[in-house]
Amino acid sequence: MTDWAGGYVADIEYITGFYRPQAPAHLTLAGLLGGVDSRLPMQTDAAHYLELGCGRGMNAALMAASNPGWQVTAVDYNPAHIAAGRSLANQAGLDNITFIEADFAALAERDMRPADVVSMHGVWSWVSPAVRAGIVRLLNRVVAPGGLVHLSYNALPAWQGGIGLQRLVFEAGRRSPGRSDRQVTAGLAFAGELKDASARYLMDPLASDLVARLGEAAVGYLAHEYMNAHWSPCFHADVAAALSDAKLDWAASGNLLESFPDLMLSDTQRGLLNRYEDPIMRELVKDICMPRQLRHDLFVRGARRLTNEQRDAVLRELFVVMSVPADDFVFAIDVPAGQAEMGPAFRHFVKALRDGPMRVADLLATAPGHSNPAELAAVLVGTNQALIVPRPGTPPSTEAIRFNRTLGAQITSLAGPEPSGGLASTALGTGLPATRAMQFVCGRILAGEGEADLDTWFQDLRHDIPEEKHETLHRILHDVVDNRLGPMRQAGVLPG
Ligand SMILES: C[S@@+](CC[C@H](N)C(=O)[O-])C[C@H]1O[C@@H](n2cnc3c(N)ncnc32)[C@H](O)[C@@H]1O
Repeated sequence: MTDWAGGYVADIEYITGFYRPQAPAHLTLAGLLGGVDSRLPMQTDAAHYLELGCGRGMNAALMAASNPGWQVTAVDYNPAHIAAGRSLANQAGLDNITFIEADFAALAERDMRPADVVSMHGVWSWVSPAVRAGIVRLLNRVVAPGGLVHLSYNALPAWQGGIGLQRLVFEAGRRSPGRSDRQVTAGLAFAGELKDASARYLMDPLASDLVARLGEAAVGYLAHEYMNAHWSPCFHADVAAALSDAKLDWAASGNLLESFPDLMLSDTQRGLLNRYEDPIMRELVKDICMPRQLRHDLFVRGARRLTNEQRDAVLRELFVVMSVPADDFVFAIDVPAGQAEMGPAFRHFVKALRDGPMRVADLLATAPGHSNPAELAAVLVGTNQALIVPRPGTPPSTEAIRFNRTLGAQITSLAGPEPSGGLASTALGTGLPATRAMQFVCGRILAGEGEADLDTWFQDLRHDIPEEKHETLHRILHDVVDNRLGPMRQAGVLPG
């Protein structure tokens, strides 16, 4: 029985995940692009990172392993999630992380150290109004002056065409027997049958596309997305109004490219956007123009505005590193209208970054005529091909090495859907996004095995891979050894 859950799914665990916008340095960059001073204590100060709705704790544990001088607190009311998070932290010997099993609605009464960064991924639009009110009370008590709050949620109006589908899957699902994973599968199957019967609503683009695609997704994900009694997508203005009760100011989108209307909107749309200065109204216009189903927003407790000159001065001093092999770098940007080509200066930047992390000011100097640090950082990082390096030159700490060894040792199979994972880096203060194959190879190398052990690794992983896919397994392992170890060293995951 999960009566304690208040309508949220608690009879099956959520998938494990780690997402870039949850990283402190990413939030710092997002804030700067929004013209807000969002610098964090990265080098020596001991900061507090709080995650609300931590699920199985992967992101929180990565933050703890990547920032050994920081304290991390991870909260979730599902005991299975807290047990999984504690187990991961214990295995990795992390002593700077505390997991708290608690309901947000009741947490505001508890004493907690002020938090410099708070992250809530996949929580807000999935919980009841009473729980959201509890979150706001908690944030009001706990966020430090100048502290950053990251919040992701399903947004309106982009979700409008999918609301009926969620309701259909939820209602059909809860009339089916069994756990919520069985229920969501039954609900989706029923939606599929209605679509095949040409049900009018399910012919609309979003609902139709969701029915076609969702069959592929992990059931833990689907159950937590579709079987919650209180799921309700929100307008940005309503979220911003709710958080203002905790003295939180909306600062920027965590999706960095969205801070650049030039990239995201047509000329005519920009003209209409520019009729307004109020950022809340501008976000509504953007939400009407762009298909933003999942918003990542950054709020700051007491936003201090920077002039463009002040902002650019801070941006010039940031360091960036590639997170993908230079040869795989894609010079096209996905924008609502299709794809846009990056300017020729980006060829110079990528060439310069082949040798490792560089200061933005030095990168700009490699491409005469390009003097815009905001565009440089936003495009490299916002296309998920580079990361900010808050502690350049810092080698992997013993905590990060132990954590990555632990992750690697847990990987015994590459079969099934690929979760979004990472590898801890002290230099990055977060994880380098990584596939299971990367985690496996990194763990083995850190455990003392050489890069030449490819055949042993293949033997260890081939057991549940069908024979016809063995060639693919070989290719994946070769790709990691030949192409990914360089970026792992440059990002401070492996010693240089
Ligand atoms: C969709 S999951 C996201 C988990 C994690 N942030 C991630 O992205 O992997 C939402 C999480 O919020 C937790 N949660 C929901 N309602 C809660 C409440 N009232 N108090 C505490 N945790 C809650 C759930 O147990 C679940 O782990």
